[in-house]
Amino acid sequence: MTSPDQPRRNFYGRIRGKTLRASQKTYLNEDLGALQPSDITREENPDRRPIDPAAIFGDARDVWLEVGFGGGEHLVHMAARNPDVGIIGCEPFINGVAMLLGKIRDAGVTNLSVHPGDARDLMDVLPDASIAKAFLNYPDPWPKKRHHRRRFVTPEHLLPLARVMKPGAEFRVATDIRDYVRQTLKEVPKAGFDLVGQGAEPWEDWLSTRYEQKALREGREPHYLTFRRR
Ligand SMILES: C[S@@+](CC[C@H](N)C(=O)[O-])C[C@H]1O[C@@H](n2cnc3c(N)ncnc32)[C@H](O)[C@@H]1O
Repeated sequence: MTSPDQPRRNFYGRIRGKTLRASQKTYLNEDLGALQPSDITREENPDRRPIDPAAIFGDARDVWLEVGFGGGEHLVHMAARNPDVGIIGCEPFINGVAMLLGKIRDAGVTNLSVHPGDARDLMDVLPDASIAKAFLNYPDPWPKKRHHRRRFVTPEHLLPLARVMKPGAEFRVATDIRDYVRQTLKEVPKAGFDLVGQGAEPWEDWLSTRYEQKALREGREPHYLTFRRR
């Protein structure tokens, strides 16, 4: 379970990028407050009390999780296709959050919740077996060997993820990095998941992301892996 004594963690990715456009600042000011789940950060919830995911969406629907949604295209696509599900997206990169908010306005989806921060902070306060599906699309590759321990597919991230996922729940990973596939195949089963399938064919409901488009332009090959929580 969660512990108030857990150390503060480093986040190694980018939190800010290019200056936000005026419209993006407006989205952040006007929309983020209502979409953000409360009691996630240590400041708001220093005792790390578990939150009630049903309270986020107002009813006891299935809740899905997307880690590192980038510009949010896959998250909005999944929300629009699955209106009866609630999806929580996590992304510390504020420019990405602003992009997502623009897409939420355009698509008019109402079943999303946005944690503008590290997925580990959210997982700390989610109850056991509360997530029915999780997506990890193009996680930061950290190519240097000494940085592999920063990857999401490490016990520090996977054990909390396994705890919050329901037995039988699907966990999808997309990556264009061969060594990331290797580490995923090694580490995810150890954390309590079974491999269900993998290959170069995406899921039938997949929507290609910004990062995937960049990988394809640069000649790298996508690989898709599906796991199931034991
Ligand atoms: C390579 S980008 C891919 C973005 C998007 N999924 C796509 O496919 O275009 C990886 C993203 O994961 C985010 N990220 C990294 N570690 C994270 C964490 N612990 N929690 C949530 N997001 C994280 C980064 O900020 C970055 O935006």
